[in-house]
Amino acid sequence: MRVLLTGGSGFIGSHIALLLLERGFDVVILDSYANSSPNVINRINTYLDKNDLRYKIEIINGDIRDKKIIDNIFLESIKQSKNIDIVIHLAGLKSVSESLNNPLHYWDVNVLGTLNLLLTMKEYECYSLVFSSSATIYGLSDSVPISEDHKISPINPYGETKVAIEKMFFDLYNSNTNLWKICSLRYFNPVGAHPSGVIGEDPVGTPNNLFPFLTQVAIGRQKLLNVFGDDWDTKDGSGIRDYIHIIDLAEGHLASIDYLNSKESCLEFINLGSGNGYSVFQIITQFESSIGCQIPFSIQSRREGDVAKCYADISKAKKLLGWTPKRTLDQICLDGWNWQIKNPNGYR
Ligand code: NAD
Ligand code: UD1
Repeated sequence: MRVLLTGGSGFIGSHIALLLLERGFDVVILDSYANSSPNVINRINTYLDKNDLRYKIEIINGDIRDKKIIDNIFLESIKQSKNIDIVIHLAGLKSVSESLNNPLHYWDVNVLGTLNLLLTMKEYECYSLVFSSSATIYGLSDSVPISEDHKISPINPYGETKVAIEKMFFDLYNSNTNLWKICSLRYFNPVGAHPSGVIGEDPVGTPNNLFPFLTQVAIGRQKLLNVFGDDWDTKDGSGIRDYIHIIDLAEGHLASIDYLNSKESCLEFINLGSGNGYSVFQIITQFESSIGCQIPFSIQSRREGDVAKCYADISKAKKLLGWTPKRTLDQICLDGWNWQIKNPNGYR
């Protein structure tokens, strides 16, 4: 089976790519390296070679906004009698603050990029799609756990682009309910790394998110962790989130492919999280105990746009996809740390 994986050299995409290749899928990656390194692909190849795995991978360096490039991928695939069977679409921009400063860029890359992709898929009669949506579309809700029928009310342009894309899926699916098979996966907080330490998260500049910041404090790249608020309405006053091991998340995509293959047509919006909420202080304590270190931290005021609690109801994913997250918070800390010590400066 041939998969077009957009954004395949990014944090989430690289883990999905590795799993797909290990399981014998033929993978075409489209990535502009706007937020990733070509080294990621070398790492994946080296890992698979070392493990004596035969694999089929093709890399296209291109921009999702360039429709000609997407056209060409489908055209070449047909010429080689290796049609693209399914698309996993992750290429896009994901920084909340950047989207507030430059919203048009977010609409351009995320929405226009997805529109290009859908237009081309339609032209080449490829109707199966797995998409990377986000829990950010639920906005400022504190009613947890959050299920898929929760109100959609994003509070930043990044979230708005994800909602617009989901609306596009809705219209497209309803234009012919016998044709399209789409899973829009709403990720919560993907963290950790592949247990081998060959690939992981490598944010450019100072990390905005808790986990990469924490591992950088542990390795000495950052002095201390700023805890954004200890006065939230939670057990210990710090914010609660749903951290899911990146391999569990990647496995959710393989389960989605199986699900789409079993259907004549469908459109499903599905939460992917661990289903558990952990506070910032719980994460610090777990990380310290997993890797045996002390994390210096300082309490700061609340971060704008944050909520007290956000974690997923994952019963739909379990039921529909037959998928369940398996890895513990301890495993998340160990694998995230393993990646950090083996790659103190990421891919550079
Ligand atoms: P990432 O930035 O590591 O990966 C995105 C990839 O897309 C990168 O390799 C980047 O180079 C590529 N890309 C960006 N613009 C492109 C363009 N115009 N054309 C082609 N490629 C382009 O991010 P990630 O964490 O792996 O996220 C992947 C997807 O999942 C994104 O769409 C993001 O919005 C979504 N998501 C991520 C999270 C998270 O916490 N990481 C949560 C929810 C949803
Ligand atoms: C953030 C984004 C969200 C995006 C997600 C994944 C905001 C407001 N939200 O979500 O839109 O989908 O990342 O990219 O930016 N924390 C600290 N110190 C830090 C970093 C974080 O205390 O240095 C706290 C936060 O206040 C929060 C928790 O840790 O309570 C998790 O934060 P983070 O990893 O940024 O994820 P989200 O807030 O869920």
